[in-house]
Amino acid sequence: MPANRVLYMLCLSAVIGCLLLLYSHFNTPVPSTPIGKVVQIPTPLGLPPVPIPADNPPTAETIALGRLLYYDAALSVDNTVSCATCHNPQLGFTDGKRVSNGVGGKNGVRNSPTVLNSAYFTLQFWDGRAPNLEKQSEGPVANPVEMAHSLKGVVQRLSQEPNYVSRFEKAFGPGPLTYEKVEKCIASFERTMLSGNSAFDRYYYGHDQTAMTPSQIHGLDVFRDPRKGNCESCHQIGEKYALFTDNRFHNIGIGFVNGETTDPGRYLVTRNIRETGAFRTPTLRNVELTAPYMHDGSLKDLKQVMDFYIGAGSSNPYLDKEIHSLDFLSRQERDDLLEFMKALTGSIPANVGPPETAASLVVQ
Ligand code: HEC
Ligand code: HEC
Repeated sequence: MPANRVLYMLCLSAVIGCLLLLYSHFNTPVPSTPIGKVVQIPTPLGLPPVPIPADNPPTAETIALGRLLYYDAALSVDNTVSCATCHNPQLGFTDGKRVSNGVGGKNGVRNSPTVLNSAYFTLQFWDGRAPNLEKQSEGPVANPVEMAHSLKGVVQRLSQEPNYVSRFEKAFGPGPLTYEKVEKCIASFERTMLSGNSAFDRYYYGHDQTAMTPSQIHGLDVFRDPRKGNCESCHQIGEKYALFTDNRFHNIGIGFVNGETTDPGRYLVTRNIRETGAFRTPTLRNVELTAPYMHDGSLKDLKQVMDFYIGAGSSNPYLDKEIHSLDFLSRQERDDLLEFMKALTGSIPANVGPPETAASLVVQ
């Protein structure tokens, strides 16, 4: 190839390279960060400090906006369903149903977990498909059997609401309302939805021997002992705090009919055959308030959960090795274990209920 031709090709690729760089520069959205004073989220007895992502420090403005959005049915396509429809403060932030109903009463496929303490999960959803609370909130908005809307549709609707527009500008500075800002606010509000200081916490971390009944104290022993309930191997209790989850995925034998799974769970995310029917260990905090239980809502009360574990679940090839029959537990031990779970009902912060819409929509 003649030298001038080579030079020409080199120059041309340099120019194209520069143009591509410029294009990507102007097309990469600049992340929005809250501009207000960062607030410290108080944690109740028994819980560790809340993990906070570097690009979304909580501020009074974003938390308050998140609370408004959480209770606002405008997020759903026909203004009928809010986050609180399925994560209702009256029901321990669940919906009390076997599986959730979204827009038009359509049936979902899984049971609604509590939002309380979800800030501590390292991955969100029963199958861990969302990496954090910010991304989690994109799921229900766009899910056809939940809010059946689109992220764009939500942004368009909120942008027509002057109160929202000015509140978002107060929280993030001037600029368009984006779904990134919406999800950051919802996530910051969720990071304040913490529940601890239960009878268990007062007994175990507060050293108040009278906080739990003798039956609950005995139930805690059964819960922890690897040769008895062995529950703690997954529903973990730490030295300084307890999340009652290991943040890992296990197949405990729920949702199998004749050895066939009705929901592949974690397998859908990782495509690892060994994770067929595995779901993330749920927290047991406030478990008394969050019936029915399990990812498919198939167990209607704590008594049924106890009977399930006594019988070691449905046998299947991927059953976790920590799950085995507990039929050797005495009647007393079974009763005490159930009583212990009732000691996990904690306090709920006063400012996570529905905002007084009219008043809070007024821009101060
Ligand atoms: C129609 C009912 C419904 C609506 C509306 C809904 N959710 Fe959920 N939510 C669920 C169900 C069901 C799951 C579990 C789904 C799964 O794991 O596949 C879930 C999971 C979650 C989780 C994960 C918790 C965990 O244990 O991993 C969080 C957090 C959450 N929702 C918050 C929200 C927020 C915020 C909104 C509003 C933007 C919302 N949800 C709207 C039903 C709903
Ligand atoms: C191998 C780990 C593991 C062990 C051991 C274990 N669990 Fe679980 N637990 C889980 C997982 C995973 C789920 C959710 C399973 C599903 O939905 O498919 C769960 C669900 C539950 C639920 C329902 C919670 C809800 O919100 O739906 C309760 C209650 C519970 N476990 C109590 C116990 C008790 C009591 C013991 C001891 C007898 C125990 N667990 C032992 C992993 C474990």
